[in-house]
Amino acid sequence: MPSNPINILAIESSCDETSAAVIQNGKVLSNTIATQKVHERYGGVVPELASRAHMQNIVPVVDAALNDAGVNKEEITAVAFTQAPGLIGSLLVGACFAKAFAQALNVPLIAVHHMQAHVLAHFIEDKPEFPFLCLTVSGGHTQIVLCRDYLDMEVLGETIDDAAGEAFDKVAKMLGLPYPGGPLIDKYAALGDPLRFKFPMSEMKDYEFSFSGIKTSVLYFLQAQRKIDPDFAEKNIKDICASVQHTIINMLMAKLRKAAKELNIKHIGIAGGVSANSGLRRAIKEEGVKSGWQVYIPRFEYCTDNAAMIGITGHYKFLKGDCADMSVTPTARATWH
Ligand code: KG4
Ligand code: ZN
Repeated sequence: MPSNPINILAIESSCDETSAAVIQNGKVLSNTIATQKVHERYGGVVPELASRAHMQNIVPVVDAALNDAGVNKEEITAVAFTQAPGLIGSLLVGACFAKAFAQALNVPLIAVHHMQAHVLAHFIEDKPEFPFLCLTVSGGHTQIVLCRDYLDMEVLGETIDDAAGEAFDKVAKMLGLPYPGGPLIDKYAALGDPLRFKFPMSEMKDYEFSFSGIKTSVLYFLQAQRKIDPDFAEKNIKDICASVQHTIINMLMAKLRKAAKELNIKHIGIAGGVSANSGLRRAIKEEGVKSGWQVYIPRFEYCTDNAAMIGITGHYKFLKGDCADMSVTPTARATWH
């Protein structure tokens, strides 16, 4: 370890959260997040509004992260930013800011893959053993990832259509709930009967997932029930949420169990926004007791989008000398590397 600390300034702007963090020698000193409320009334993230909000937020958010950390600009060793995947306009704001900041300070720039960062969020406070299996569930992705080392990861399988978070959000929208609907479904589900309504589980090969079927079946179910009673959804919201959540969790856990068994891995975690779901957190803990898994669940603030996870990934990349040059550009979709 060099005598000067390694201070990574990290920036995350892939979707609707503007976040900045300072990571010192792999420890989080600050993690500032500005959540954009502007999307609530539209039932989803409006890309153009997201980029404009990022532009307004980025300077005060970085400023707050540096202040909270008690670190001066001049003490920053490298600047890490989310390069992909995400909304291109949103990514551009973070990328341009990070490049300008790194250039002005004459420090290295580190390009980070958002999904790799969700997995490495586990290493902020914990130290899972390798090989480590991670179910990464967010608004845009659903993946089972095999981690052989910090930066040596392989996506074993993913969704062929909607992500798990998208299924939560779309069902919430059908129920008239604002965006993002996942946390609200979680709240109602805690009060409802998960076995009251039956929704079909998709049968996919290998480690693939599909969540478009459950979305359609909930839609047809609600249409049919609303013909009989227009207030059906309002009257039964707790049981509907509990039943939908139960089905989504069963689909996720079935594939995670299969991967753990086939690969004989016992160190297992969940990451991404949907890993904030209380039902999923409970399900993996219960499975851990049953199957002898060592289970890892990040703290809530490290599950949903945050710059601390970008910073920890930046830290490991910096140690490996994996820095980007100034010609790096963000990309909306990026294959795993
Ligand atoms: O990782 P994330 O913050 O952003 C993306 O990279 O997509 O994930 C956001 C997703 C949204 O779909 C949101 O509804 C879902 O995570 N989410 C939840 C919960 N908290 C956030 N889904 C279910 N239950 C929750 N408690
Ligand atoms: Zn994310």
